[in-house]
Amino acid sequence: MAKAKVNLNGKTILVTGSPGFIGANLVLRLLREMTLGTVISFDSMNDYYDPKLKEYRLGLIEDAAKESSVEHIFIKGNLADKNLIDELFEKYKPSVVVNLAAQAGVRYSIEYPDVYIESNIIGFFNVLEACRNNPVEHLVYASSSSVYGGNKKVPFSTDDKVDNPVSLYAATKKSNELLAHSYSKLYNIPSTGLRFFTVYGPAGRPDMFYFSATQKLAAGNTIQIFNYGNCKRDFTYVDDIVEGVYRVMQGAPEKKNGEDGLPIPPYAVYNIGGGQPENLLDYISTLQEELVNAKVLPADYDFEAHRELVGMQPGDVPVTYADSKALEEDYGFSPKIGIREGLRKFSVWFKEYYKN
Ligand SMILES: NC(=O)c1ccc[n+]([C@@H]2O[C@H](COP(=O)([O-])OP(=O)(O)OC[C@H]3O[C@@H](n4cnc5c(N)ncnc54)[C@H](O)[C@@H]3O)[C@@H](O)[C@H]2O)c1
Repeated sequence: MAKAKVNLNGKTILVTGSPGFIGANLVLRLLREMTLGTVISFDSMNDYYDPKLKEYRLGLIEDAAKESSVEHIFIKGNLADKNLIDELFEKYKPSVVVNLAAQAGVRYSIEYPDVYIESNIIGFFNVLEACRNNPVEHLVYASSSSVYGGNKKVPFSTDDKVDNPVSLYAATKKSNELLAHSYSKLYNIPSTGLRFFTVYGPAGRPDMFYFSATQKLAAGNTIQIFNYGNCKRDFTYVDDIVEGVYRVMQGAPEKKNGEDGLPIPPYAVYNIGGGQPENLLDYISTLQEELVNAKVLPADYDFEAHRELVGMQPGDVPVTYADSKALEEDYGFSPKIGIREGLRKFSVWFKEYYKN
């Protein structure tokens, strides 16, 4: 698909959901790469998981900003607050918007649906409206592999029909893609949705399996392995996700008119996933080995005694597998970092962060 080049340097970039996990890593990358301009982090700092981790990531960003010639501004606020979002856009006029703020998590959406509607639907709508009323060159936003639900065909392609979400979380992410399409068509706003596949890494999200399993194992507890370990996941190391987002930000779907004289929506959706689904049991074995290497677990750790195989969880899917060919074709990139390297970095970070 034809892309219009977006030069980030010297511009104002808004990253919502920073200092969330992916957002913080993206902002750190922007502060390293850009030499001029302003990067705005926007986040409610909610307590869905330990907010100390968000404070820690914000600390890393503030340290990096001191070393960077780029200005960094942190704004604490709720995406669902329309006046605040309007004021923010009016005041800073961001050229590129990366919307990562959302209520994440499949299982939590079963118990707490309201917050998904507030953050992922109303919040995203507010971002779209603000993009409509301001000169935004490119809106990039997080979708999710969960839109594929129980898709039987692998690998998952963005051409596959994704109209059967199996969780409210997935339904909100698919809705984001639909809303973005209508705004791209009606108001000619270049937008790119990115379906992330199980992102992991240092200072990641404690609600995700690799992190919560590590906390349980480190405390001497047993972990539960769902679907008796018969799950395959396409894990993506956070640096690969950041590389993908960074490249995508710089290439917006081109604006063109159709034969009817109206805009052809400058709209695209891509998968970003490792492209090598791992068997859950292999992933856990590698995690445990790396936790021993990092001295989070003792050398004689009895793995078998600390795992319990259990059935499938509601909202969960047996396999995720990304076809990231389109990303490779359009942006010359596909994820590179394997689980051994990624889990090693996570384990070393975990040991250091929780040393006390
Ligand atoms: N990590 C993954 O494996 C993964 C996979 C697929 C999609 N995603 C999507 O990627 C994005 C980033 O995910 P992450 O893993 O960094 O999650 P994260 O929870 O660490 O980051 C999201 C941030 O958004 C903030 N937030 C939530 N609701 C908000 C609101 N209403 N207003 C302002 N801020 C709000 C949270 O405080 C949090 O810091 C999310 O949209 C998520 O749905 C993540």
